[in-house]
Amino acid sequence: MKRTMIATSAAALIAGLTTATAVFAGEEDELVIDGETLVTKAPAPEGSPFSEVISGWRFRSDETQALQMDDFDNPGMIYVDQGLDLWEAADGSEGKSCADCHGDIAGFAGLRAAMPKWSEELGTLATMEELINYSRTEHMGAEPWKWESNEMLSMTAAIGLQSRGMPVDVATDGPAETWWEKGREIYYTRFGQLDFSCANCHEDNYGNMLRADHLSQGQINGFPVYRLKWGGLGSIDRRFKGCVEDTRGVPFAVGSDEMKALELYVASRGTGLVIETPSVRQ
Ligand code: HEC
Ligand code: HEC
Repeated sequence: MKRTMIATSAAALIAGLTTATAVFAGEEDELVIDGETLVTKAPAPEGSPFSEVISGWRFRSDETQALQMDDFDNPGMIYVDQGLDLWEAADGSEGKSCADCHGDIAGFAGLRAAMPKWSEELGTLATMEELINYSRTEHMGAEPWKWESNEMLSMTAAIGLQSRGMPVDVATDGPAETWWEKGREIYYTRFGQLDFSCANCHEDNYGNMLRADHLSQGQINGFPVYRLKWGGLGSIDRRFKGCVEDTRGVPFAVGSDEMKALELYVASRGTGLVIETPSVRQ
């Protein structure tokens, strides 16, 4: 009985996947912000499962695309402003602000493009959220921020913006290699009642329509992203979680080793693209 239901729902989903007949409006558009053109489509590097890597921005409607093309219209920029305020705010038992130790936030240019990365200090593959919280607890004597809190999202957006336009450049060798392999394994594992892997949607079917959604390659170069559906900014983990839940599967916990491994692997699939933080999605 249960098995029939599973088969039926998966079949319904596959039937719902329709090839976009004409080139989808927007797929050939160029992302220009402040007069600078950001690479949103590029030949894939060697070893990539794609022939070209394409930013999620290209798959969105004209209206959503437009929001990301103008920093005054981009609702993610409100978070960036909050992040810049937090950068200057003293906190914790040391009474220090981020700026007191790190100076100008522009000093973090390039960091987002290299995330996640192996950290000797933390002794693990570290996400941006973990590096920030490590500084808060170890250097500031402050409470860690919750992963999906306004403070954390604002700070990851503000630090991420410093790398906007810089090429994705994650290390997948050395101590990061086993994480990358684990991430790849998860990416191709089928989840949930629908029995779909990440690759079934984002590799086999990008460019096709899934219900009302134009499927992208599931890239993470624009995170944290402002989603109109969420009415706010959200992390990479929140998106991964939502995608697994859509297959009616049980998602990995936010911040878990599985999520981090997946983040590294998915980041590496975006090699050739540039950082777009904060991007805007439907
Ligand atoms: C049943 C199909 C399906 C599966 C399986 C799926 N996703 Fe998605 N995913 C979507 C849809 C639909 C969207 C929204 C449209 C788009 O950007 O593709 C989306 C969006 C995303 C985005 C946002 C891309 C952007 O540019 O903002 C990421 C990242 C992502 N998925 C990653 C994953 C990962 C990792 C997995 C596996 C754990 C996964 N997805 C599994 C359907 C799926
Ligand atoms: C008391 C000094 C101090 C304060 C205050 C401080 N940090 Fe740090 N932070 C450090 C030190 C030391 C390191 C490790 C060396 C380095 O990479 O700069 C570090 C590392 C980092 C890193 C990793 C950098 C990298 O390249 O790997 C990030 C991100 C970071 N801090 C963010 C913040 C943020 C955000 C704040 C404010 C919420 C903050 N830090 C406050 C001292 C501080």
